[in-house]
Amino acid sequence: MHVGVIGAGTMGRGIAQVAALGGWHVLLADVSEEVATQAVGRVHAALDSLVQKQRLTPDARDAAAARLRSVATPEGLHQCELVIEAVVEDLDTKVGVLAPLAAAATSTILASNTSSLSITRIGRELDRRSTPTGSAATPARSMATGLPASARLVGMHFFNPVPLMPLVEVIAGADSDPAALQLVSDAAAAWGKTTVRAKDTPGFIVNRVARGYYLESLRMLGEGVAGVDEIDDTMKTLGGFRMGPFELMDLIGIDVNYAVTCSVWEQFGRPARLAPHEIQRRLVEAGNLGRKTGRGFYDYGEPAAVPAVQTERRSFAYPQELYEAVRRFTDRAGRGTEAAAGGSRSEQYVFARVLAAVINEAALARDEEVATQRDIDVAMKLGTNWPHGPLEWADRIGPFTVAALLRALNEAADDGRFTSAAALQQ
Ligand SMILES: NC(=O)c1ccc[n+]([C@@H]2O[C@H](COP(=O)([O-])OP(=O)(O)OC[C@H]3O[C@@H](n4cnc5c(N)ncnc54)[C@H](O)[C@@H]3O)[C@@H](O)[C@H]2O)c1
Repeated sequence: MHVGVIGAGTMGRGIAQVAALGGWHVLLADVSEEVATQAVGRVHAALDSLVQKQRLTPDARDAAAARLRSVATPEGLHQCELVIEAVVEDLDTKVGVLAPLAAAATSTILASNTSSLSITRIGRELDRRSTPTGSAATPARSMATGLPASARLVGMHFFNPVPLMPLVEVIAGADSDPAALQLVSDAAAAWGKTTVRAKDTPGFIVNRVARGYYLESLRMLGEGVAGVDEIDDTMKTLGGFRMGPFELMDLIGIDVNYAVTCSVWEQFGRPARLAPHEIQRRLVEAGNLGRKTGRGFYDYGEPAAVPAVQTERRSFAYPQELYEAVRRFTDRAGRGTEAAAGGSRSEQYVFARVLAAVINEAALARDEEVATQRDIDVAMKLGTNWPHGPLEWADRIGPFTVAALLRALNEAADDGRFTSAAALQQ
């Protein structure tokens, strides 16, 4: 089988690597043959490094390297059964690189690695801009000849770094054909990835459900409930998360995280629960983007990282009902896990508020049939390394206890952002 990858940047190179290792022939294209050839060299270097670490045999490296080559232009991809675009996150550029191919290779399945654009929209724009010429060679094992480009287009959302992250979200646009979805799912599985299916909605599963982890933490920092290191430590100790929200934003890049937040918030019509936070915006404006600039929520100077964003601590008198709801929720959330459920009163409050926001977002996604409960949980465990899926966590805590906490939090908030998903009220 042949896959074409257009865009040989961070993601495109990773996709080329896993596809070649998975036994597919890979043709890599970028703005010029020179750029694509350099990228092939970088994938070869990555394969060499796997051999040095004894994670790959020299024979397997040689075989994968032999299956990978660069092409001068995307026209060189006509013979591919599947073409994945991983160019910059811009609708016009994505449609621009896929349209000539969609017109000429009328049975090739098309996939977009977009993180934030609508697959339906890319597909319909492609139909408008690609009139089939039927002139090019058609792939041998095509199932999709004659389908419009929008039916042959599927979202194929990989996670960074592609060789290490096991998840691929397969996104069905409104027009995506089942055969196209199947081919993309089969390809990802052949390359060693676990797939989940998601509807074409903002942020798909992972980039949407993860918002609460960052945003509720930012709000508590802004309110003076706790400092960045306290919130990070609490989520790790009480929740068993590998990284706290602020450490994670620093790793991802505060600019990248902020851009995703703004995009998801805008596309959902600016709901309060998904609103970006002032602190993120200020850090981006100041150029303090996290680890890559040496400073973000933490300062990464020697010898150890220290909090770089301070908060004016305030003491809170929680209503008794809220305190009881937090305690019950935290108690049940910790059961059967290694994480100590204990924690001080304020740690329990921090943990419960973040986890409740995350569970509610997952339940809202399930209400909207973005994905099945299983796929939402799998996506969050494999796409973000969370210790449990949010919906299985909700089942363990008990929907009644989760709903009681959301009600109590909503009474204390002034924007209704904890309004409970229907799935939790039943
Ligand atoms: N980086 C991530 O963490 C991540 C995760 C998931 C999805 N994505 C998505 O993957 C896509 C690529 O992201 P990236 O981080 O690899 O970006 P990148 O900037 O590293 O790479 C983009 C590549 O596309 C090439 N390109 C630009 N215009 C082109 C054109 N007209 N024709 C051919 N090639 C062209 C660039 O030269 C560059 O090599 C984006 O849509 C992004 O949203 C990124």
